[in-house]
Amino acid sequence: MRERLQTESSGGVFANKDLVRSDTIIDEDRIVGRDEQLGRVVDNLKPVLHEEGIPDMLLSGPSGTGKSLIIHAVCKQIVELCESQGKTFGVLSINCEGPKTADRAVYRLVKCAADDLGVDPGVPQTGVSTDQKLERLYELMREYYDGVIFILDEIDMLEGPYQEAEYNSLIYQLSRARGLADFDGPISLTAITNYADFMKDLNSRAQSSYNPDDIFFDDYDATQLRSILMHRRDAFKPGSLADDVIPLVAAFGSQTHGDARKAIDLLRWAGELAERRGSDTVTEPAVREAQEKYTENRKLRHISGISTQKKLSIYAVAATAYYTKGNPEWIPAGPAFKTYQFIADAMDADRYSRETFVNHVTEQSTYGVLDFERRGKGRGRGVHMYFSLSESPETIMSTIREDSRFTDLAKEDAPIRAVVREHMKRFHNDN
Ligand SMILES: Nc1ncnc2c1ncn2[C@@H]1O[C@H](COP(=O)(O)OP(=O)(O)O)[C@@H](O)[C@H]1O
Ligand SMILES: [Mg+2]
Repeated sequence: MRERLQTESSGGVFANKDLVRSDTIIDEDRIVGRDEQLGRVVDNLKPVLHEEGIPDMLLSGPSGTGKSLIIHAVCKQIVELCESQGKTFGVLSINCEGPKTADRAVYRLVKCAADDLGVDPGVPQTGVSTDQKLERLYELMREYYDGVIFILDEIDMLEGPYQEAEYNSLIYQLSRARGLADFDGPISLTAITNYADFMKDLNSRAQSSYNPDDIFFDDYDATQLRSILMHRRDAFKPGSLADDVIPLVAAFGSQTHGDARKAIDLLRWAGELAERRGSDTVTEPAVREAQEKYTENRKLRHISGISTQKKLSIYAVAATAYYTKGNPEWIPAGPAFKTYQFIADAMDADRYSRETFVNHVTEQSTYGVLDFERRGKGRGRGVHMYFSLSESPETIMSTIREDSRFTDLAKEDAPIRAVVREHMKRFHNDN
């Protein structure tokens, strides 16, 4: 362990790991390409410096194409230039993945302004109307800012509980700020989305009040990804990155969606893998291995996002595979269903029918989590449904147990094992 600790801290391949963390806001000189989009955002926001109006914007395009990066990089410059003129430009930015309603999103904007200004939000999160929150937002604007941009990142995630998506009312309400806020300075409402067709999903009220300059971000190709990564080479110590590593990472990246975030993550993972091995260089095999892990992780990420009943079903299959002697590759559905029923009771969860259980499990084959087939056990012995997991049962179980509702299952080790062994034995005797 000591040796390990020492290689982590003293040795290693990274000189500045932050440069290969995809959530780091990088300096402008590391931004590669995107001249057109950057130019348009700059032109749109420049009037702030002359106290003139600025347009609303919609930045759209697939994930990892630099949308958040470009808007924040430009806003940072505008804030600094404003400061040098003795003015305050407010960048009020929220990610809409968190809040579930427009009301909560407005509160987040108030909070964002209050944090930026170092003042009290002045309204509670619950118990007051959205209008009161908006009024507080406008009050902060009037009092402290000379211009404001609202950035609603991942706007399409703000669906909310009702039939009509909550982003409609958020966009409608904020786009009226120009008229209602009694605020003299320029205001831009800028939304960011992965969907090219986002505007079509807006209801007519939101559409008529929000007329953004639409700026599209397309996928990166391998050459662009290579260049993006080359500008972050100094994340690694000199000589610790083999020459073919960046081209390979870029090639993997462009094969999928030209997503710079994934390419950066892959490069970091390859480095982390090399470090764990105690190696002081990152080489091609580390990239290939990290790429495989990445796919595995995507499946696990998928599992961590499914409903409780589906998790329970998958957990039962994994537990059956895990506790059966000899860890067979193919697990019969019958005993797995018995395990499911046992675990459902242990968790005090609903028990669904065998059909639903099987549907929940087989559905996961679409995501590469497992494979299933019906097959006979030999002449005249009937046909059974079997499952085969594509990840180790242990990994799947521990992923699901990260969900707090499943955490306690770790304590049910012995009884689950007993149930699995009992039903596997019966299955083999009966068939
Ligand atoms: N043109 C670029 N130059 C340098 N880095 C980039 C570029 N585009 C994206 N990145 C990096 O890729 C990652 C994802 O970019 P981001 O702007 O968050 O994507 P999006 O918001 O479109 O999903 C970030 O770490 C960002 O720094
Ligand atoms: Mg983004």
